[in-house]
Amino acid sequence: MRLVVVSNRVSAPNREGKAGVGGLAVALRAALRERGGVWFGWSGRVSEAPAELPHIVQRGRVGYAVVDITPLDRDEYYLGFANRALWPNMHYRLGLTQFSRAEFAGYMRVNRRFAAALAAIIEPDDLIWVHDYHLIPFAAELRRLGIQNRIGYFHHIPWPPIDVFGALPGAGDLLTALAAYDLVGVHTERDAGNLARSFAEPVGGMPVPAAPRIIALPIGIDTAAFRAAAQHADANSVVQRMISGLGDRPLVIGVDRLDYSKGIVERLEAFERFLVANPDRRGNVTLLQIAPPSRSEVPEYEQVGRQTDETLGRINSSLGDTGWMPIRFVKRSYTRPVLAGLFRNAAVGLVTPMRDGMNLVAKEYVAAQRPDDPGVLVLSRFAGAAEQMREALIVNPFDKFEVAEAIGTALAMPKDERIARWRVLYEGLCRHDIGWWTQSFLDALTASAPLAALPR
Ligand code: G6P
Repeated sequence: MRLVVVSNRVSAPNREGKAGVGGLAVALRAALRERGGVWFGWSGRVSEAPAELPHIVQRGRVGYAVVDITPLDRDEYYLGFANRALWPNMHYRLGLTQFSRAEFAGYMRVNRRFAAALAAIIEPDDLIWVHDYHLIPFAAELRRLGIQNRIGYFHHIPWPPIDVFGALPGAGDLLTALAAYDLVGVHTERDAGNLARSFAEPVGGMPVPAAPRIIALPIGIDTAAFRAAAQHADANSVVQRMISGLGDRPLVIGVDRLDYSKGIVERLEAFERFLVANPDRRGNVTLLQIAPPSRSEVPEYEQVGRQTDETLGRINSSLGDTGWMPIRFVKRSYTRPVLAGLFRNAAVGLVTPMRDGMNLVAKEYVAAQRPDDPGVLVLSRFAGAAEQMREALIVNPFDKFEVAEAIGTALAMPKDERIARWRVLYEGLCRHDIGWWTQSFLDALTASAPLAALPR
């Protein structure tokens, strides 16, 4: 039985090792290599007249099958409905949600076209696993073409409560589309509850279909591999240079795509608060924030970029001095080995999103630590990871005073306590790693009763 992974972005083999901060791509590549199959999705390119059939590159047991989309598709489907309506809504940001009917139609159209392209290369017992919010209508479109394979969907971002989700125009259509899946996965019990309740109440007066099977299955990382990368990273010249530049100062680290959901501006302000409240720490600690730009053509992302620059400039110029800059801000991505090495050398991992589906940086930070002298994870209670990682210092990212205090607590934490907390967290990461996650989802999908056969 082949595995067919479907996602908006296909992490093509030539980009291996340069996967930036996204843990998901790494996870899916590993699952496909192990089982053999196809990864299907957008090529990342636009062209005026895209081919209908996918372009396939075979690498060992894995075929990478991609299609182009038109510039209009990209505007309406990717930059439009997916990232200006679905993304903010699902991250509880009603005020940032921009809806347009043309963009919604474009989102549906691209899903239909993707489904037609994949249908051409599907085999009868392929197990199809669709990922993330760009592709909610994908299975419904495949069903329309007569595809009867088992199809699972995993939603990697939060699913908000019905009062938030129900405000999204098109919400009823999305629920109807979701019902075409044999299994729907989310990362947390909270998201699973919200999603199940979405099916229990009519949205905007529209009757809702019967709910699909829903499971809460928190994604993990390749714990052993990440730990090994961290162990080898001390020899990495980029890591060495960065660490020696810090002198003896403890390092606080944040790594996120430059996205308003990550709470980067709020984090910088919390760090400022910490320095203001603890003058003895001035000159004696550094925050390194790595934030590769993301979706920068979307106006709300441009805006968060500007706010970040302003906040950073203000803090560094008011609190820094000639020999010390409180915050080092780097707008680029690093390879996973470099990130692993930086995490290992950071006394505090600051993971404070305003809302996040899971957040794998929290897990990678813990996996990279030295068992005999680990750093401390400060984690937002609104990251999916907080449901599992209870031994982190859990904070409310909307309260910069609380985050500032947690930074102080983390930096001052005695070694015994650091070790005790880290051990429990690390054991959790070993038990529930990426292999466990993929296997559990695929087992549940395989065991699910297939939908009643549709007439062709
Ligand atoms: C999040 C989403 C992914 C997405 C990634 C990068 O992690 O859940 O689906 O691929 O961000 O965003 P981008 O828009 O660059 O694909």
